[in-house]
Amino acid sequence: MDFSLSKEQLEIQEWSRKFFEETIAPLANTHSREKISTTTLEKLSREGFMTMIVPEKFGGLGLDSISLSLALQEISKVCGSVGVTVAVTNMIADILVREGTDAQREKFLSELVSGKSLTASFCLTENSSGSDAGALKTSAKKISEKGLGENSEGFEISGEKIYVTNGVFSNFFLVMARSLDLSGTKGVSAFLVERDRAGVVLGKEEDKMGLTGSSTIRMSFDGVKIPKENLVQAEGEGFKIAMRALDGGRISVASQALGIAKAALKAGVTYAKEREQFGKPIADFQAIQWKIADAATSIAAAEALIMRAASMKNVAAAQKNTTGASVLSFTLEASMAKLYATEMAMRVCEDMLQIHGGYGYTKDYPIERYCRDVRVTSLYEGTSEIQRHVIAREILGKTL
Ligand code: CAA
Repeated sequence: MDFSLSKEQLEIQEWSRKFFEETIAPLANTHSREKISTTTLEKLSREGFMTMIVPEKFGGLGLDSISLSLALQEISKVCGSVGVTVAVTNMIADILVREGTDAQREKFLSELVSGKSLTASFCLTENSSGSDAGALKTSAKKISEKGLGENSEGFEISGEKIYVTNGVFSNFFLVMARSLDLSGTKGVSAFLVERDRAGVVLGKEEDKMGLTGSSTIRMSFDGVKIPKENLVQAEGEGFKIAMRALDGGRISVASQALGIAKAALKAGVTYAKEREQFGKPIADFQAIQWKIADAATSIAAAEALIMRAASMKNVAAAQKNTTGASVLSFTLEASMAKLYATEMAMRVCEDMLQIHGGYGYTKDYPIERYCRDVRVTSLYEGTSEIQRHVIAREILGKTL
Protein backbone atom coordinates (compact mmCIF):
# COMPACT_ATOMS: atom_id res chain seq x y z
CA MET A 1 0.00 0.00 0.00
CA ASP A 2 1.35 3.41 -0.98
CA PHE A 3 1.06 5.89 1.89
CA SER A 4 2.69 8.81 0.12
CA LEU A 5 0.60 11.87 -0.61
CA SER A 6 0.29 13.27 -4.11
CA LYS A 7 1.60 16.74 -4.95
CA GLU A 8 -1.98 18.04 -4.95
CA GLN A 9 -2.77 16.46 -1.57
CA LEU A 10 0.38 17.99 -0.07
CA GLU A 11 -0.63 21.38 -1.46
CA ILE A 12 -4.11 21.11 0.08
CA GLN A 13 -2.55 20.17 3.42
CA GLU A 14 -0.18 23.13 3.29
CA TRP A 15 -2.83 25.58 2.10
CA SER A 16 -5.30 24.63 4.85
CA ARG A 17 -2.55 24.61 7.51
CA LYS A 18 -1.48 28.13 6.54
CA PHE A 19 -5.02 29.50 6.35
CA PHE A 20 -6.05 28.01 9.70
CA GLU A 21 -2.92 28.99 11.56
CA GLU A 22 -3.16 32.57 10.31
CA THR A 23 -6.91 33.15 10.31
CA ILE A 24 -8.53 30.81 12.81
CA ALA A 25 -5.86 30.09 15.47
CA PRO A 26 -6.25 33.57 17.01
CA LEU A 27 -9.99 32.87 17.43
CA ALA A 28 -9.79 29.32 18.82
CA ASN A 29 -10.04 30.35 22.50
CA THR A 30 -12.88 32.74 21.71
CA HIS A 31 -14.74 29.75 20.27
CA SER A 32 -14.66 28.26 23.77
CA ARG A 33 -16.92 31.13 24.84
CA GLU A 34 -18.73 32.33 21.73
CA LYS A 35 -20.26 30.88 18.60
CA ILE A 36 -18.25 31.15 15.38
CA SER A 37 -19.05 34.55 13.89
CA THR A 38 -20.77 35.09 10.57
CA THR A 39 -17.66 36.95 9.40
CA THR A 40 -15.53 33.86 10.04
CA LEU A 41 -18.05 31.58 8.32
CA GLU A 42 -18.11 33.93 5.33
CA LYS A 43 -14.30 33.76 5.09
CA LEU A 44 -14.40 29.95 5.25
CA SER A 45 -17.08 29.84 2.61
CA ARG A 46 -15.23 32.27 0.30
CA GLU A 47 -12.08 30.15 0.54
CA GLY A 48 -14.12 27.08 -0.48
CA PHE A 49 -13.80 25.11 2.78
CA MET A 50 -17.57 24.48 3.00
CA THR A 51 -17.67 22.78 -0.39
CA MET A 52 -14.27 21.09 -0.58
CA ILE A 53 -15.77 17.75 -1.65
CA VAL A 54 -17.94 19.30 -4.40
CA PRO A 55 -16.61 18.75 -7.95
CA GLU A 56 -15.26 21.83 -9.72
CA LYS A 57 -18.00 21.57 -12.36
CA PHE A 58 -20.49 22.43 -9.59
CA GLY A 59 -18.31 25.24 -8.23
CA GLY A 60 -16.55 23.38 -5.40
CA LEU A 61 -12.86 22.64 -4.85
CA GLY A 62 -13.20 19.11 -6.21
CA LEU A 63 -11.08 17.49 -3.51
CA ASP A 64 -10.79 13.73 -3.20
CA SER A 65 -11.60 12.08 0.14
CA ILE A 66 -7.94 11.90 1.27
CA SER A 67 -7.50 15.63 0.67
CA LEU A 68 -10.74 16.31 2.54
CA SER A 69 -9.41 14.31 5.48
CA LEU A 70 -6.08 16.17 5.40
CA ALA A 71 -7.84 19.53 5.39
CA LEU A 72 -10.18 18.49 8.23
CA GLN A 73 -7.17 17.36 10.26
CA GLU A 74 -5.48 20.75 9.78
CA ILE A 75 -8.70 22.58 10.68
CA SER A 76 -9.30 20.47 13.79
CA LYS A 77 -5.69 20.87 14.96
CA VAL A 78 -6.45 24.57 15.24
CA CYS A 79 -10.13 24.63 16.18
CA GLY A 80 -12.43 21.64 16.71
CA SER A 81 -15.53 23.86 16.57
CA VAL A 82 -14.70 24.97 13.04
CA GLY A 83 -13.71 21.36 12.20
CA VAL A 84 -17.19 19.96 12.84
CA THR A 85 -18.92 22.94 11.20
CA VAL A 86 -16.97 22.43 7.98
CA ALA A 87 -17.20 18.62 8.09
CA VAL A 88 -20.99 18.47 8.42
CA THR A 89 -21.48 21.06 5.66
CA ASN A 90 -19.29 19.01 3.32
CA MET A 91 -21.29 15.90 4.23
CA ILE A 92 -24.53 17.55 3.10
CA ALA A 93 -22.82 18.92 -0.01
CA ASP A 94 -21.61 15.40 -0.79
CA ILE A 95 -25.18 14.05 -0.49
CA LEU A 96 -26.42 16.69 -2.95
CA VAL A 97 -23.62 15.81 -5.38
CA ARG A 98 -24.22 12.05 -5.21
CA GLU A 99 -27.92 11.76 -4.58
CA GLY A 100 -29.55 15.04 -5.60
CA THR A 101 -31.34 15.93 -8.84
CA ASP A 102 -29.96 18.61 -11.16
CA ALA A 103 -32.65 20.97 -9.87
CA GLN A 104 -31.75 20.23 -6.23
CA ARG A 105 -28.09 20.87 -6.96
CA GLU A 106 -28.92 24.04 -8.81
CA LYS A 107 -30.94 25.37 -5.89
CA PHE A 108 -29.30 24.01 -2.74
CA LEU A 109 -25.72 23.24 -3.73
CA SER A 110 -25.34 26.62 -5.40
CA GLU A 111 -26.45 28.26 -2.15
CA LEU A 112 -23.53 26.58 -0.40
CA VAL A 113 -21.07 27.31 -3.18
CA SER A 114 -22.08 30.98 -3.36
CA GLY A 115 -22.15 31.39 0.43
CA LYS A 116 -25.84 32.34 0.44
CA SER A 117 -26.15 29.45 2.88
CA LEU A 118 -23.01 29.47 5.00
CA THR A 119 -23.52 25.91 6.24
CA ALA A 120 -25.99 23.05 5.91
CA SER A 121 -27.47 20.66 8.47
CA PHE A 122 -28.45 17.02 8.87
CA CYS A 123 -31.63 16.30 10.84
CA LEU A 124 -31.77 12.63 11.79
CA THR A 125 -31.70 12.28 15.58
CA GLU A 126 -34.80 12.71 17.72
CA ASN A 127 -35.47 12.59 21.46
CA SER A 128 -36.32 8.89 21.37
CA SER A 129 -34.24 7.80 18.36
CA GLY A 130 -30.47 8.23 18.67
CA SER A 131 -28.53 5.05 18.00
CA ASP A 132 -31.78 3.43 16.80
CA ALA A 133 -32.08 6.00 14.02
CA GLY A 134 -34.66 3.96 12.10
CA ALA A 135 -37.20 4.48 14.90
CA LEU A 136 -37.62 8.17 14.09
CA LYS A 137 -41.14 9.63 14.42
CA THR A 138 -41.06 12.82 12.37
CA SER A 139 -43.74 12.40 9.72
CA ALA A 140 -44.07 13.55 6.14
CA LYS A 141 -47.67 13.45 4.95
CA LYS A 142 -48.43 13.68 1.23
CA ILE A 143 -50.42 16.80 0.38
CA SER A 144 -51.78 18.48 -2.68
CA GLU A 145 -52.04 22.24 -2.58
CA LYS A 146 -52.28 24.82 -5.31
CA GLY A 147 -48.99 26.56 -5.93
CA LEU A 148 -46.90 23.94 -4.14
CA GLY A 149 -44.19 22.90 -6.57
CA GLU A 150 -44.58 22.06 -10.24
CA ASN A 151 -47.68 19.83 -9.88
CA SER A 152 -49.06 21.20 -6.63
CA GLU A 153 -47.87 18.02 -4.92
CA GLY A 154 -45.80 17.94 -1.83
CA PHE A 155 -45.35 16.85 1.77
CA GLU A 156 -46.18 18.26 5.16
CA ILE A 157 -43.46 17.61 7.71
CA SER A 158 -44.16 17.48 11.44
CA GLY A 159 -41.84 16.48 14.24
CA GLU A 160 -38.88 17.41 16.37
CA LYS A 161 -35.18 16.92 15.82
CA ILE A 162 -32.27 17.28 18.22
CA TYR A 163 -28.49 17.69 17.87
CA VAL A 164 -28.77 19.64 14.65
CA THR A 165 -25.18 20.68 13.94
CA ASN A 166 -24.86 24.15 12.31
CA GLY A 167 -28.57 24.75 13.06
CA VAL A 168 -28.40 28.53 13.51
CA PHE A 169 -26.08 29.07 10.55
CA SER A 170 -27.89 26.97 7.89
CA ASN A 171 -30.36 28.15 5.28
CA PHE A 172 -31.51 24.61 4.59
CA PHE A 173 -31.71 21.23 6.30
CA LEU A 174 -31.73 17.62 5.15
CA VAL A 175 -34.57 16.13 7.19
CA MET A 176 -35.24 12.42 7.57
CA ALA A 177 -38.97 11.80 8.05
CA ARG A 178 -41.40 8.92 7.79
CA SER A 179 -43.53 9.25 4.64
CA LEU A 180 -44.48 5.61 4.07
CA ASP A 181 -46.68 3.55 6.32
CA LEU A 182 -43.90 1.07 7.00
CA SER A 183 -42.24 0.46 10.34
CA GLY A 184 -38.55 0.94 11.02
CA THR A 185 -36.02 2.06 8.47
CA LYS A 186 -38.10 1.29 5.38
CA GLY A 187 -40.64 4.10 5.77
CA VAL A 188 -38.06 6.86 6.02
CA SER A 189 -37.54 9.45 3.27
CA ALA A 190 -35.11 12.37 2.98
CA PHE A 191 -36.27 15.94 2.34
CA LEU A 192 -34.56 19.26 1.74
CA VAL A 193 -36.26 21.90 3.86
CA GLU A 194 -35.57 25.60 3.54
CA ARG A 195 -35.19 27.58 6.74
CA ASP A 196 -37.68 30.25 5.68
CA ARG A 197 -40.62 27.82 5.23
CA ALA A 198 -43.54 28.47 7.58
CA GLY A 199 -43.38 26.10 10.55
CA VAL A 200 -39.60 25.71 10.69
CA VAL A 201 -38.73 26.61 14.27
CA LEU A 202 -35.15 26.87 15.50
CA GLY A 203 -35.05 25.80 19.14
CA LYS A 204 -32.69 25.77 22.06
CA GLU A 205 -28.93 25.89 21.52
CA GLU A 206 -27.35 23.02 23.49
CA ASP A 207 -24.99 24.06 26.30
CA LYS A 208 -22.15 21.68 25.50
CA MET A 209 -18.97 20.51 27.21
CA GLY A 210 -16.83 21.15 24.12
CA LEU A 211 -16.99 22.33 20.51
CA THR A 212 -18.68 25.36 22.02
CA GLY A 213 -18.13 27.56 18.98
CA SER A 214 -20.22 25.26 16.79
CA SER A 215 -23.99 25.40 16.80
CA THR A 216 -26.03 22.40 18.01
CA ILE A 217 -29.72 23.06 18.26
CA ARG A 218 -33.12 21.46 18.66
CA MET A 219 -35.61 22.09 15.89
CA SER A 220 -39.26 21.58 15.31
CA PHE A 221 -41.09 21.23 12.04
CA ASP A 222 -44.66 22.27 12.66
CA GLY A 223 -46.60 21.21 9.58
CA VAL A 224 -43.92 22.48 7.19
CA LYS A 225 -45.17 22.29 3.59
CA ILE A 226 -42.58 21.52 0.95
CA PRO A 227 -42.90 20.68 -2.76
CA LYS A 228 -42.38 17.13 -3.99
CA GLU A 229 -39.24 18.40 -5.77
CA ASN A 230 -37.55 18.61 -2.33
CA LEU A 231 -37.70 14.83 -1.86
CA VAL A 232 -34.21 13.34 -2.29
CA GLN A 233 -34.27 10.09 -4.29
CA ALA A 234 -37.39 7.92 -3.97
CA GLU A 235 -39.65 7.65 -0.95
CA GLY A 236 -38.36 5.03 1.48
CA GLU A 237 -34.72 5.66 0.52
CA GLY A 238 -34.11 8.16 3.35
CA PHE A 239 -32.52 5.78 5.84
CA LYS A 240 -30.06 4.46 3.27
CA ILE A 241 -29.23 8.00 2.15
CA ALA A 242 -28.48 8.82 5.80
CA MET A 243 -26.35 5.71 6.26
CA ARG A 244 -24.39 6.31 3.05
CA ALA A 245 -23.78 9.89 4.15
CA LEU A 246 -22.63 8.72 7.58
CA ASP A 247 -20.15 6.29 5.99
CA GLY A 248 -18.36 9.36 4.64
CA GLY A 249 -19.17 11.46 7.72
CA ARG A 250 -17.51 8.89 9.95
CA ILE A 251 -14.22 9.25 8.05
CA SER A 252 -14.54 12.99 8.63
CA VAL A 253 -15.14 12.55 12.37
CA ALA A 254 -12.10 10.25 12.52
CA SER A 255 -10.12 13.01 10.78
CA GLN A 256 -11.34 15.64 13.26
CA ALA A 257 -10.27 13.39 16.15
CA LEU A 258 -6.90 12.72 14.52
CA GLY A 259 -6.30 16.45 14.05
CA ILE A 260 -7.07 17.14 17.72
CA ALA A 261 -4.79 14.23 18.79
CA LYS A 262 -1.94 15.62 16.68
CA ALA A 263 -2.38 19.05 18.28
CA ALA A 264 -2.45 17.46 21.74
CA LEU A 265 0.75 15.50 21.06
CA LYS A 266 2.50 18.66 19.86
CA ALA A 267 1.36 20.47 23.03
CA GLY A 268 2.55 17.57 25.22
CA VAL A 269 5.96 17.42 23.54
CA THR A 270 6.47 21.19 23.76
CA TYR A 271 5.52 21.24 27.44
CA ALA A 272 7.64 18.18 28.31
CA LYS A 273 10.72 19.82 26.79
CA GLU A 274 10.14 23.16 28.55
CA ARG A 275 9.03 22.04 31.98
CA GLU A 276 11.83 21.19 34.39
CA GLN A 277 11.48 19.15 37.59
CA PHE A 278 14.14 17.45 39.68
CA GLY A 279 16.73 19.52 37.79
CA LYS A 280 15.91 18.41 34.24
CA PRO A 281 13.20 18.66 31.56
CA ILE A 282 10.40 16.21 32.31
CA ALA A 283 10.90 14.87 28.74
CA ASP A 284 13.99 13.12 30.17
CA PHE A 285 11.80 10.88 32.35
CA GLN A 286 10.73 7.53 30.97
CA ALA A 287 7.18 7.93 32.34
CA ILE A 288 6.74 10.91 30.03
CA GLN A 289 8.61 9.35 27.09
CA TRP A 290 6.38 6.29 27.06
CA LYS A 291 3.23 8.39 26.95
CA ILE A 292 4.68 10.27 23.98
CA ALA A 293 5.79 7.08 22.24
CA ASP A 294 2.35 5.49 22.69
CA ALA A 295 0.60 8.64 21.45
CA ALA A 296 2.77 8.94 18.33
CA THR A 297 2.31 5.25 17.52
CA SER A 298 -1.46 5.27 17.91
CA ILE A 299 -1.71 8.47 15.86
CA ALA A 300 0.16 6.72 13.04
CA ALA A 301 -2.19 3.71 13.29
CA ALA A 302 -5.27 5.94 13.11
CA GLU A 303 -3.76 7.77 10.15
CA ALA A 304 -3.38 4.46 8.29
CA LEU A 305 -6.99 3.42 9.00
CA ILE A 306 -8.27 6.80 7.84
CA MET A 307 -6.15 6.73 4.67
CA ARG A 308 -7.50 3.25 3.88
CA ALA A 309 -11.13 4.26 4.40
CA ALA A 310 -10.68 7.51 2.45
CA SER A 311 -8.99 5.78 -0.49
CA MET A 312 -11.82 3.25 -0.61
CA LYS A 313 -14.31 6.13 -0.60
CA ASN A 314 -12.41 7.59 -3.58
CA VAL A 315 -12.76 4.32 -5.47
CA ALA A 316 -16.42 4.04 -4.43
CA ALA A 317 -17.13 7.58 -5.67
CA ALA A 318 -15.95 6.60 -9.12
CA GLN A 319 -18.17 3.52 -9.13
CA LYS A 320 -21.50 4.85 -7.89
CA ASN A 321 -24.68 3.75 -9.64
CA THR A 322 -27.67 5.91 -10.55
CA THR A 323 -29.20 5.87 -7.06
CA GLY A 324 -26.04 7.41 -5.61
CA ALA A 325 -25.18 4.11 -3.93
CA SER A 326 -21.63 2.98 -4.56
CA VAL A 327 -20.89 -0.49 -5.80
CA LEU A 328 -17.94 -0.77 -3.43
CA SER A 329 -18.89 -0.54 0.25
CA PHE A 330 -16.51 1.19 2.66
CA THR A 331 -18.90 0.97 5.63
CA LEU A 332 -16.58 -1.40 7.51
CA GLU A 333 -13.44 0.67 6.92
CA ALA A 334 -15.18 3.94 7.84
CA SER A 335 -16.48 2.51 11.12
CA MET A 336 -13.06 1.03 11.97
CA ALA A 337 -11.37 4.38 11.29
CA LYS A 338 -13.92 6.26 13.42
CA LEU A 339 -13.87 3.77 16.29
CA TYR A 340 -10.10 3.63 16.53
CA ALA A 341 -9.28 7.29 15.80
CA THR A 342 -11.80 8.76 18.23
CA GLU A 343 -10.98 6.42 21.13
CA MET A 344 -7.27 6.89 20.43
CA ALA A 345 -7.66 10.69 20.37
CA MET A 346 -9.43 10.70 23.75
CA ARG A 347 -6.58 8.64 25.25
CA VAL A 348 -3.91 10.85 23.71
CA CYS A 349 -5.57 14.06 24.93
CA GLU A 350 -5.91 12.59 28.42
CA ASP A 351 -2.24 11.48 28.50
CA MET A 352 -1.00 14.82 27.19
CA LEU A 353 -3.05 16.61 29.85
CA GLN A 354 -1.40 14.37 32.45
CA ILE A 355 2.01 15.49 31.16
CA HIS A 356 0.96 19.11 31.78
CA GLY A 357 0.20 18.30 35.44
CA GLY A 358 -2.01 20.88 37.17
CA TYR A 359 -1.41 23.43 34.42
CA GLY A 360 -3.24 21.14 32.00
CA TYR A 361 -6.40 21.64 34.01
CA THR A 362 -6.35 25.41 33.49
CA LYS A 363 -7.37 27.44 30.47
CA ASP A 364 -3.80 28.79 30.21
CA TYR A 365 -2.93 25.83 27.98
CA PRO A 366 -4.94 24.58 24.97
CA ILE A 367 -4.82 20.93 26.12
CA GLU A 368 -7.87 21.60 28.32
CA ARG A 369 -9.84 22.64 25.20
CA TYR A 370 -8.60 19.61 23.22
CA CYS A 371 -9.86 17.29 25.98
CA ARG A 372 -13.31 18.90 25.93
CA ASP A 373 -13.55 19.09 22.14
CA VAL A 374 -12.41 15.54 21.45
CA ARG A 375 -14.91 13.91 23.80
CA VAL A 376 -17.90 14.09 21.48
CA THR A 377 -16.11 12.40 18.58
CA SER A 378 -16.85 8.95 20.01
CA LEU A 379 -20.51 9.95 20.40
CA TYR A 380 -21.71 11.82 17.33
CA GLU A 381 -22.27 10.28 13.91
CA GLY A 382 -22.64 6.95 15.68
CA THR A 383 -21.27 6.07 19.13
CA SER A 384 -18.31 3.72 19.53
CA GLU A 385 -20.83 1.06 20.50
CA ILE A 386 -22.64 1.50 17.16
CA GLN A 387 -19.31 1.38 15.28
CA ARG A 388 -18.48 -1.92 17.03
CA HIS A 389 -21.96 -3.19 16.11
CA VAL A 390 -21.43 -2.24 12.44
CA ILE A 391 -17.93 -3.77 12.37
CA ALA A 392 -18.98 -7.02 14.07
CA ARG A 393 -21.97 -7.36 11.76
CA GLU A 394 -19.83 -6.86 8.65
CA ILE A 395 -17.16 -9.32 9.85
CA LEU A 396 -19.65 -11.98 10.96
CA GLY A 397 -21.60 -11.54 7.74
CA LYS A 398 -18.45 -12.04 5.71
CA THR A 399 -17.14 -15.08 7.51
CA LEU A 400 -20.37 -16.97 8.18
N1 CAA B 1 -24.96 2.08 3.40
C1 CAA B 1 -26.05 1.73 2.63
N2 CAA B 1 -27.12 1.07 3.14
C2 CAA B 1 -27.09 0.75 4.45
C3 CAA B 1 -26.01 1.09 5.29
C4 CAA B 1 -24.90 1.76 4.72
N3 CAA B 1 -23.85 2.10 5.44
N4 CAA B 1 -26.28 0.66 6.54
C5 CAA B 1 -27.48 0.05 6.50
N5 CAA B 1 -27.98 0.11 5.22
C6 CAA B 1 -29.24 -0.45 4.72
C7 CAA B 1 -29.33 -1.92 5.03
O1 CAA B 1 -28.71 -2.70 4.03
C8 CAA B 1 -30.83 -2.15 5.06
O2 CAA B 1 -31.29 -2.26 3.76
P1 CAA B 1 -32.55 -3.22 3.39
O3 CAA B 1 -33.72 -2.62 4.12
O4 CAA B 1 -32.69 -3.11 1.92
O5 CAA B 1 -32.21 -4.59 3.88
C9 CAA B 1 -31.36 -0.83 5.64
O6 CAA B 1 -30.34 0.16 5.40
C10 CAA B 1 -31.60 -0.88 7.13
O7 CAA B 1 -30.39 -1.21 7.74
P2 CAA B 1 -30.28 -1.99 9.12
O8 CAA B 1 -31.21 -3.15 9.10
O9 CAA B 1 -28.85 -2.25 9.35
O10 CAA B 1 -30.82 -0.91 10.14
P3 CAA B 1 -30.77 -0.92 11.73
O11 CAA B 1 -32.04 -0.37 12.21
O12 CAA B 1 -30.29 -2.24 12.23
O13 CAA B 1 -29.66 0.23 12.03
C11 CAA B 1 -27.49 1.09 12.64
C12 CAA B 1 -28.34 0.08 11.81
C13 CAA B 1 -26.09 0.85 12.14
C14 CAA B 1 -27.58 0.82 14.13
C15 CAA B 1 -27.93 2.55 12.32
O14 CAA B 1 -29.21 2.83 12.86
C16 CAA B 1 -26.96 3.57 12.83
O15 CAA B 1 -25.94 3.84 12.20
N6 CAA B 1 -27.24 4.22 14.01
C17 CAA B 1 -26.45 5.35 14.48
C18 CAA B 1 -27.06 6.61 13.97
C19 CAA B 1 -26.07 7.75 13.93
O16 CAA B 1 -24.94 7.61 13.54
N7 CAA B 1 -26.55 8.94 14.31
C20 CAA B 1 -25.76 10.10 14.24
C21 CAA B 1 -26.59 11.23 13.69
S1 CAA B 1 -25.77 12.60 12.96
C22 CAA B 1 -25.04 13.44 14.24
O17 CAA B 1 -24.44 12.87 15.07
C23 CAA B 1 -25.14 14.91 14.31
C24 CAA B 1 -24.25 15.63 13.39
O18 CAA B 1 -24.73 16.42 12.59
C25 CAA B 1 -22.79 15.53 13.53
